[in-house]
Amino acid sequence: MTDGPRICDYGDSTYRQDFWEGQGRDYEDAVERRVLRKLLPAGGARLLEVGAGFGRITNEYRMFREVVLLDYSLEQLQYARHKYGDEGYLYVAADAYRMPFQASAFDAATMIRVIHHFENVPAVLGQIRKVLRDDGSFILEYANKRNLKAMLRHLFSSRAWNPYTLEPIEFVELNFNFHPEYMQRQVAELNFAVRKVAPVSWFRLGLLKSALPTQFLAGLDSLLQRSGWTISPSIFLDLQLRDASGDRGQSLPRDPLEILRCPLSCSALRRDGDVLVSDSGIRWGIHGGVFDFRMPLE
Ligand SMILES: C[S@@+](CC[C@H](N)C(=O)[O-])C[C@H]1O[C@@H](n2cnc3c(N)ncnc32)[C@H](O)[C@@H]1O
Repeated sequence: MTDGPRICDYGDSTYRQDFWEGQGRDYEDAVERRVLRKLLPAGGARLLEVGAGFGRITNEYRMFREVVLLDYSLEQLQYARHKYGDEGYLYVAADAYRMPFQASAFDAATMIRVIHHFENVPAVLGQIRKVLRDDGSFILEYANKRNLKAMLRHLFSSRAWNPYTLEPIEFVELNFNFHPEYMQRQVAELNFAVRKVAPVSWFRLGLLKSALPTQFLAGLDSLLQRSGWTISPSIFLDLQLRDASGDRGQSLPRDPLEILRCPLSCSALRRDGDVLVSDSGIRWGIHGGVFDFRMPLE
């Protein structure tokens, strides 16, 4: 499946070890967990974690009866499955531009540290809208182009990119920063209402992080989140779908397998051993407990 937008494939990358574990990012992890705890609904039936990776923050979603982890990397998901098991969790390797789910299958979704890898923002947000219930919640985190550091760099260096223009900036291949107004327009186009804007991760400075206790910095960060000043490097949006169509089924199937759909034909799937077969005969593999929709089987 090579046509369509480019994909940032983490494959069997060592993202977990190279970026998180022992890499001095306890503060970033702590602030993201704090803001999620504030923004997540009190409970619900089924949550979709888009770009779940190795499941770093999946344990924050325990108030949902079922969590579906979607990621393009089979290996990251297999690590997550090893950690969380199958009870209450479903692992789906797929391209978020082609979600393999029934419409309205989820009552909530999150996308944290992921949308910066998407060159076609309306397309991926459109997919999330499609699989959410009419009044579904969506927590979206994005990397902020108009952050304090970028503004200072722009002030003092003529070569720095302009943080004030609305278009996304691709500073490294398939790594984008977004202007807050650009992102607000994208979500509004898709009928998402903004319930809260939380600017996060104000103290991403090695010196500060090593000098001050993580939870102290995370507490200060929580205070600044209330300011609404969108000049921090990371922004969380608490969104609610306001879809008035009313014709999108609102009852969620109890069997999680029933929500899976062939991403090519959109038809229902039946399980035949370690293979899922669509009504039109397209076959998809199940590898180590992960439903694999990246490429159909021969
Ligand atoms: C920076 S990691 C974030 C993982 C996790 N959300 C976290 O915060 O730890 C980005 C993840 O997005 C996934 N990803 C990127 N493009 C994707 C796509 N088109 N479809 C599905 N997942 C994608 C990558 O495989 C990777 O696991």
